[in-house]
Amino acid sequence: MHGLEGVVAVITGAGRGIGAHIARRYATEGAQLVLVDLDEHSVISLAAELRELGVDVLSLGLDITQLDAASMMISESVKQFGRVDVLVNNAGVIRVKPFLDTTEEDWDYMQNVNAKGLFFCVQAGAKQMLNQEPISEGRPVGKIINMSSIAGRSGRKFMCAYSASKAAVIMITQSGASELSPKVTVNSICPGPVDTDMWVQIDAEWTSIENSPRGSAWNQRVQGVPMARAQTPEDVAAMAYFLATKDSDFITGQSYHVDGGVLML
Ligand SMILES: NC(=O)c1ccc[n+]([C@@H]2O[C@H](COP(=O)([O-])OP(=O)(O)OC[C@H]3O[C@@H](n4cnc5c(N)ncnc54)[C@H](O)[C@@H]3O)[C@@H](O)[C@H]2O)c1
Repeated sequence: MHGLEGVVAVITGAGRGIGAHIARRYATEGAQLVLVDLDEHSVISLAAELRELGVDVLSLGLDITQLDAASMMISESVKQFGRVDVLVNNAGVIRVKPFLDTTEEDWDYMQNVNAKGLFFCVQAGAKQMLNQEPISEGRPVGKIINMSSIAGRSGRKFMCAYSASKAAVIMITQSGASELSPKVTVNSICPGPVDTDMWVQIDAEWTSIENSPRGSAWNQRVQGVPMARAQTPEDVAAMAYFLATKDSDFITGQSYHVDGGVLML
């Protein structure tokens, strides 16, 4: 018996990186999946990969900053699978910018995806979950998992707007958990630097600001990890799996650092 047998899970930002690895992990654990991404081709191709393994999967090309995307994502999931047990709000964006150079457009870009878009996805997911019976008696009717960051726990050089948006995710998580318990659990994950395309972008922007060699920002981060290796998307997917299972049913309102010990709070 797999840990997510019969579970319907919706994952945003599922086209690549952490979201794609969460999708693959959930697929091996027996979940039915709805993969959502701004880049429709990426989720179409991941869905094809997973269907080859016999997974039931729907792909949706949606921009979560558009007001109707959240409700559309949930209604399409219900149309296809009848319910939403787990919602992983993973889609996120970053721009590395010095504090004094950050523009209104930079600020809005990050807030609109990471905080505002995420909030309305949480809201749409919770409305559906509160309208359905639990997957089995005595369990929550749904579980929401939000992707924050260790940058949401402590401010970062060149990352003010991003850090602020990820701190908002922690507050949305706590506020949502307070109002939606005991029916729906809401938790978040705070990864450290993970080896994905997002970090390729961060390294390129960071090193160009500091005029330092390409790769040096990433190497510096990895050298500071107490667990002495780079973090992988699989490390994050393992926590996303736990937070989707029955084993975490009593946990809500928490934000877990998955960072190899970078932040010890
Ligand atoms: N990589 C890291 O080091 C790291 C660390 C901490 C937190 N995070 C967070 O984890 C999440 C995933 O990060 P990643 O490294 O896999 O990033 P990534 O850039 O590799 O992937 C993000 C995915 O989100 C999608 N996306 C972006 N905007 C969207 C929108 N408006 N609507 C729908 N989809 C959208 C992108 O198309 C992409 O497929 C993000 O929320 C990120 O902030 C990443």
